[in-house]
Amino acid sequence: MTALTNDQTATGAEEQISATLVNPYLNHAVRMLEAGYATATDIDHAMRFGCGYPKGPLMVIDELGAATVRDALAARFAETGDHLHQPADLLEKAAAEGLTLAGGEAGDHAAPQVRRPVATVGVVGTGTMASGIVQVFAQSGYDVVVVGRAQEKLDAVVTGIARSLERAIAKGRSDEATKQAVLGRITTATGREALAAADLVVEAIAEDLAIKAELFTDLDRICKPGAILATTTSSMPITELATVTGRPQDVIGMHFFNPAPVMKLVEVVTTEHTADHVDETVKALCAKTGKVAVSCGDRSGFIVNALLFPYLNDAVRLAESGVDLTAIDAAIKERAGFPMGPFELLDVVGNDVSLAIQQELHREFGEPGFKPAATLEAKVAAGELGRKTGRGFHTYA
Ligand code: CAA
Repeated sequence: MTALTNDQTATGAEEQISATLVNPYLNHAVRMLEAGYATATDIDHAMRFGCGYPKGPLMVIDELGAATVRDALAARFAETGDHLHQPADLLEKAAAEGLTLAGGEAGDHAAPQVRRPVATVGVVGTGTMASGIVQVFAQSGYDVVVVGRAQEKLDAVVTGIARSLERAIAKGRSDEATKQAVLGRITTATGREALAAADLVVEAIAEDLAIKAELFTDLDRICKPGAILATTTSSMPITELATVTGRPQDVIGMHFFNPAPVMKLVEVVTTEHTADHVDETVKALCAKTGKVAVSCGDRSGFIVNALLFPYLNDAVRLAESGVDLTAIDAAIKERAGFPMGPFELLDVVGNDVSLAIQQELHREFGEPGFKPAATLEAKVAAGELGRKTGRGFHTYA
């Protein structure tokens, strides 16, 4: 046997970590395609533009070869017996018949058109996502009304956007006149009545169905007829929000990704009630704001979270088994080419948010392998939520 150098051992370990975490994610993407939940193009776009991955999962399988991925999963399944590691039927078929899985680039469809004119956008909420969404629309030339409960929080949204625009100026990507124009399009209000004239309202408040339902009941009372009412929820049933209003045809999901000004994806979620021209208008607006829209049904996790969070949860389990988490982060960036390691990303998203999403996926899909990892639960119980508390899986100054 040839002795391995330290470098070769390290590379082998990285490859193993990456394969352990990435192969089940690839399998899961094939299952999503085979179930008809989303198109191949949308699955690949979702992971590229929502998480900054260099390639979508189906494209990765095509490059590696379906048979290679199938064989790796089959070997793993033989060890674990976990259904999540059992090669998807469609992967077996692709391997046997030499088929490719990825779709083409969009382009075979006519570009979506704005079917309802939108000039003024209302955003409800003052958190990270709300603030990012305000910036996205204001930068794209829309007048934005931000509604929050406290004026200090509304002021903080505007200050945060001003700071972001100043960073862009410092980098030579923007100028003072643009900054003033963007800020000049933003107005704030503590009363929801300010949304009466909005053509589109995007809700980005607490992930709590009762709180969101109360808001949608109020939006139904306040907003003008024909206004599009969008939620940014990542885990609540949108149909339930639609049906508290008298205009379920106007209710839709617009799921943005963190950080919203940077990540290009919006998952556009329709319910069985959503009007086609509302879906088309929202997709056209996404294009006008430089975003890539994908179509999703009203199901927990949509495309990205359903594929991303089980992988993050698996990373926590791998660390529980004794693998150093810094080594896991490094292996994923180095081998899979993802922009952040799983623990870095968990700390950005927040362990509380991640746990809630994972619990929701576990409930919806009933996969035993989706059970939230004990350490994720412990981190949340200990208040170690990630960057926002200064400590999560990593510690921040
Ligand atoms: N707001 C505005 N701009 C920001 C920003 C923020 N919060 N963070 C970074 N940027 C900008 C920077 O200013 C920089 O802009 P320029 O290119 O114009 O200079 C650009 O983004 C790149 O930033 P950096 O060079 O500082 O950092 P980076 O190259 O490491 O990229 C990143 C940062 C884009 C966030 C990258 O690490 C990445 O793609 N990470 C993956 C994030 C991810 O997976 N998000 C999805 C999470 S899941 C979710 O959001 C859904 C849910 O329901 C929870």
